[in-house]
Amino acid sequence: MASLTVRKLDEDLKASLRLRAARAGRSVEDEVRMILREATEGPSAAPASPARSVPQPHRSRTSAATTLPRVTLIIGGGIAAYKALDLIRRLKDRGIHVRCVMTRAAQQFVTPLTASALADERCYTDLFDAQSEFDAGHIRLARDTDLIVVAPATADLMAKMAQGHADDLATAILLATNRPVLIAPAMNPLMWANAATKRNVAQLARDGIAFIGPNSGEMAEANEAGVGRMSEPLEIAAAAEAILRPRATGPLAGKTILITAGPTHEPIDPVRYIANRSSGKQGFAIAASAAEAGADVTLVSGPVDLDDPAGVRVIRVESARDMLAQVETLLPVDIAIFAAAVADWRVANAGDQKIKKTSSGMPPLELVENPDILATVSKLKQNRPPLVIGFAAETQNLIENATSKLKRKGCDWIVANDVSPASGVMGGDRNTVHVLTLDKSNVAIDSWPVMTKEEVADALVAKIAATIA
Ligand code: CTP
Repeated sequence: MASLTVRKLDEDLKASLRLRAARAGRSVEDEVRMILREATEGPSAAPASPARSVPQPHRSRTSAATTLPRVTLIIGGGIAAYKALDLIRRLKDRGIHVRCVMTRAAQQFVTPLTASALADERCYTDLFDAQSEFDAGHIRLARDTDLIVVAPATADLMAKMAQGHADDLATAILLATNRPVLIAPAMNPLMWANAATKRNVAQLARDGIAFIGPNSGEMAEANEAGVGRMSEPLEIAAAAEAILRPRATGPLAGKTILITAGPTHEPIDPVRYIANRSSGKQGFAIAASAAEAGADVTLVSGPVDLDDPAGVRVIRVESARDMLAQVETLLPVDIAIFAAAVADWRVANAGDQKIKKTSSGMPPLELVENPDILATVSKLKQNRPPLVIGFAAETQNLIENATSKLKRKGCDWIVANDVSPASGVMGGDRNTVHVLTLDKSNVAIDSWPVMTKEEVADALVAKIAATIA
């Protein structure tokens, strides 16, 4: 999707956008996205209520569900600052939007440029920043987030927090925020054990600040060990996620779900590929719905132009073989749903260089079959998910072809849909599906009316929840 540039708007429009964004507690960019989404999707694109036989979702989707949780990561000035760079990646892996702020001391260890490259957003460093898109920058940075993480939290930064100082951007944000704050202390063991630090820790705990670590271990200083090592990025990311997504409630709480979505791209040469018309919308909608139902969802997607669904870990891949490799590393899971339109063939002799036109005619493209991801996982002897669901994209003899696919591939359910051009399913927003379930050798067919892809997703998730309950 094209990036949004709000600088080219006139000042009045910018001011009213800022006001609107502030009222909604969103960034200006998020507000513009919201306006565009409303404009394209319309106030309510929902069709008439689905028929009674369709499993009902546990609750309806809200527009907020499409917004990622946001962390403002304040990087303090300690040797552990380099680990904060890995933390950015770990948070993003969990579907969390990260915006970085660096203290002056932190910039002695890592650069704002690296942090902004990893976060995909500029890194903020100065309290008085003429370039900032934000009016009263520290106030917006303090509020336009769901959680503030301080990593590493140095002894000095903690002392300032405990005292309520606000003499730089980081401390001003921490003083101005009304959002939860998680800090990951990192310092020499003697500094951690010092009475002044202990007083500050106790004060911060009383102020409602959450702590992760410090751990015990080797220090950067030679021959020193003890308590003071910053927690590992994975531990900090897990603690942040626990605050951002506190209770996994809902019918799929505690379940792990793996979903594939989108097309795959099979290279012909570095600039050309074989693909299909899948938009990925149905798989993404299922991932969003499963996450809303409390599941721990990982989505492995081929190339699509869709935002990550809220609360879903998204892994982007290109080819069928990349997709299979990712899927295999994610097992075991409780439920696997294969909604991807995987390319059946790839070019055996894909070129390293762009294939040029020659007078000797067309280049010979030899095709070989791709691995069948659904069949591979369904037939696993070890780590086969207890419930494996495939899709059947058909243009004719829908039920007959889907039934034989269900048996041939060895999955438990098949969601059959008509993808002939007249149906408008490929790339469209609606779908008409039949869910075929295999019980011993009997196939039961559940036919649902035409619905939006979100409604199909909710109904499928409700059916899964009812089955595994
Ligand atoms: N699938 C897969 N790996 C492949 C091909 C398909 O995992 N290499 C999965 C799809 O994600 C879907 C199911 O198998 O869940 C059926 O895909 P579909 O495209 O309908 O069928 P194909 O197996 O490709 O068979 P055909 O093209 O003959 O209809």
